Amino acid sequence: MKKRLFIVDEDASSTGELREKLADSQHIEVCGHAVRLEEVWRAVQATSPDILLVSSLQETELGVLCQQIRFAFPHLALIAACSARELLWEPFLRNLGIWVIAKPIQPMQIETLAFQFSTVLGLAALQNHPHRAVAEARAEQTYVADFKEPKHLITVYGPKGGVGKTFLSRELAVYFSMQKKAGRPLQVLAVDFNLDLGTFATSLNLPRTPNLFSWVQVIDTHLKERALRDGRNPDLLHHEDWQEYATAMRLSPQDIAKYVVTHSQTGLHVLTSPREIRHSFEIRDYHLYLILETLKNSSYDVILIDTAPDTTDATIQALFFAERVVMVGNPVVDSIENIQRMLKLLREAEYPEERIQICMNRLQRKELFTLDEIRAYFQLHPSRKIFPIPDDAEVKKSINTGTPMMLYPGRTAAKDAIEALGKSLVPPEAERVDQQEKGKQRPSLLKWLWR
Ligand SMILES: Nc1ncnc2c1ncn2[C@@H]1O[C@H](COP(=O)(O)OP(=O)(O)O)[C@@H](O)[C@H]1O
Ligand SMILES: [Mg+2]
Repeated sequence: MKKRLFIVDEDASSTGELREKLADSQHIEVCGHAVRLEEVWRAVQATSPDILLVSSLQETELGVLCQQIRFAFPHLALIAACSARELLWEPFLRNLGIWVIAKPIQPMQIETLAFQFSTVLGLAALQNHPHRAVAEARAEQTYVADFKEPKHLITVYGPKGGVGKTFLSRELAVYFSMQKKAGRPLQVLAVDFNLDLGTFATSLNLPRTPNLFSWVQVIDTHLKERALRDGRNPDLLHHEDWQEYATAMRLSPQDIAKYVVTHSQTGLHVLTSPREIRHSFEIRDYHLYLILETLKNSSYDVILIDTAPDTTDATIQALFFAERVVMVGNPVVDSIENIQRMLKLLREAEYPEERIQICMNRLQRKELFTLDEIRAYFQLHPSRKIFPIPDDAEVKKSINTGTPMMLYPGRTAAKDAIEALGKSLVPPEAERVDQQEKGKQRPSLLKWLWR
């Protein structure tokens, strides 16, 4: 059966064109369109589409528009068509379970998505079939990456240097790689987004080649090939042109393996920062976007990104792509002030605050400020916990020797605290099952489709 598509786009001529091109489609029938926001609500109710294609309306930002539509029609499949400028909304939109495509809209793309959509609905008929698990697995495989359950993509951030981001990233990454899922160790990737002065690899005695820059060079080769294929001179292309090429490109998640180094004691994979500072100058926003996108579609169970204490593109993208953010600070006024400023910025950007897990590192027995006072200063909800990590004289040695504390024998207060933080980010398997039973799990798009 054909899927009914409703188009929201102020550009009536491009809508007309798309309608014409989709006229003979086997999978889609266009059931209506709106050029203004006020028309959308009634028209969608009147035409009862299966899929809504949302493009720009001058009255409102695409991200805001899609969020409103998602809220009003939670049962509809949504596709957002973004211009190069609007692609900054992409991680946000994906987190709302919205498909994202780059403009110009290709009718084939819509067809493919609609086809995949109907495949999943078709498989839904197998819901009560004894082989449902197989069907589910198959659906997961054949499905576009956007439909997969979200990965545990965790960004460790703190708007001040030396507060313990890299230390905690390393310890958390090692902790996760020691956890199990269905009897096998979790596959964990740590990524060093301190592009210029990263030290994550060093903190594990790992080599710095291959690294992120090796990957960026390969991406550039592919981008140039595409430009040449279009008869364009790569030397004359602008940043925006490369952004457009990059957003239209998909990298294979299997390729990631070529650029990681493995920590042999734990099996942890590390995508390290460039070996030379000048290499970091060549990494652009669209490279990072492509890399993050590919990581998100990879088979890693947990991806942990260590960031720099700045607000550069790498850091902001890592924050927006993340499913959880560990905001690290020390119980010192300057660090606390900067976290407060960063929280303010994120609140203004309507960043979902529930993703942020605040962590106070290097707590001593007696501190000037209590955690309750810090929580009040940050205006956190009383139910939100701040995770304390004690100051521990062993940390320095553990960094200097490249031996994670998590691999030390026995229990210490610091290890216990890091473990508690880790559990809050990725609940252990047993607790995950409990949550599922209680129906508390984040609703997945697949489950919603199958409902
Ligand atoms: N819990 C801790 N106890 C004692 N020292 C710590 C602790 N966490 C971090 N440190 C010290 O702080 C230094 C800076 O940590 P690092 O992780 O490199 O900070 P960042 O990545 O935020 O710049 C480390 O070299 C270590 O000596
Ligand atoms: Mg660091």
